[in-house]
Amino acid sequence: MYQQVYLNGEYQAAEQACVPVMDRGFMFGDGVYEVIPVYAGRPFRLQQHMQRLQNSLDAIGINNPLSQSDWEHIFSTLFAHNCDTPDAYIYLQVTRGVMQRREHNYNADLIPTVLVMCHSHHYALTDSKTAGIKAITVEDNRWADCYIKSINLLPNVLRKQQAMNQEATEAILIREGYAVEGSASNLFIVKDDVIRTPPKSRYMLGGITRDLIIELCHDNKVVMGEKEISEDELHDADEIWMTSSTKEIMPVTELNQHKVGRGVPGPKWNQVQKIFQAYKQKLQ
Ligand code: PDD
Repeated sequence: MYQQVYLNGEYQAAEQACVPVMDRGFMFGDGVYEVIPVYAGRPFRLQQHMQRLQNSLDAIGINNPLSQSDWEHIFSTLFAHNCDTPDAYIYLQVTRGVMQRREHNYNADLIPTVLVMCHSHHYALTDSKTAGIKAITVEDNRWADCYIKSINLLPNVLRKQQAMNQEATEAILIREGYAVEGSASNLFIVKDDVIRTPPKSRYMLGGITRDLIIELCHDNKVVMGEKEISEDELHDADEIWMTSSTKEIMPVTELNQHKVGRGVPGPKWNQVQKIFQAYKQKLQ
């Protein structure tokens, strides 16, 4: 079975799908994207992901090229064709489209380029999660509009690679003395049994997983708050977690080569992880 992608109205084999070199996504990283988990064949928190897509498109002045039902039809078609597992994730990207010449400024009438892919995915429940991951801290050198889910990910790519080169999995980004998020994930800490995550701001991507964890904590009376996390507080945390659509809730057991807490996933992570998994099951 070959992998199919959706590109501008057509389903094509992934290896054959091409965009023109003058596409502004290729030239300038001028576009936005979404990553949506699929559990038991169903996109998870779809409405929230589509709302964030709309927010990103609005922020950079691209009209949403498809209706909600068009998007959903593409997702289910790709899932049915590509995935022989119940769990997967959808990647979609919308760029501003193709121009005649390379110019920074753009015409308002360009036709956006739409790419959608769907891949089988194994949401690790044991291995890396029960062992925990290693993380490093790095300076956040991104721009100031990180709430836009832009395809322009060069700083994130370089920071993530820096972490990998140091045998860690994630880089925690520090802006002016405060831990903001990971290179591809949001950040939570636990101190004295209280869970904390930084409040949303333009300097971070408002994660859908993050929002769900906050919601589930409130519903289950697990104490948590949204408050800035200084670099010192990060180093002093009893637990650190990184969250994202593809990684769910990852406990960090080593930060800059020092143990976090006892160096194993902590009790709060265990508690919230169970609540999260139970919520997923309930929807299936
Ligand atoms: N990244 N912050 C950044 C910078 C991210 O890139 C991501 C996700 C998150 C978590 O958001 P969510 O919970 O909505 O997935 C936070 C995706 C998974 C990616 O780029 O592949």
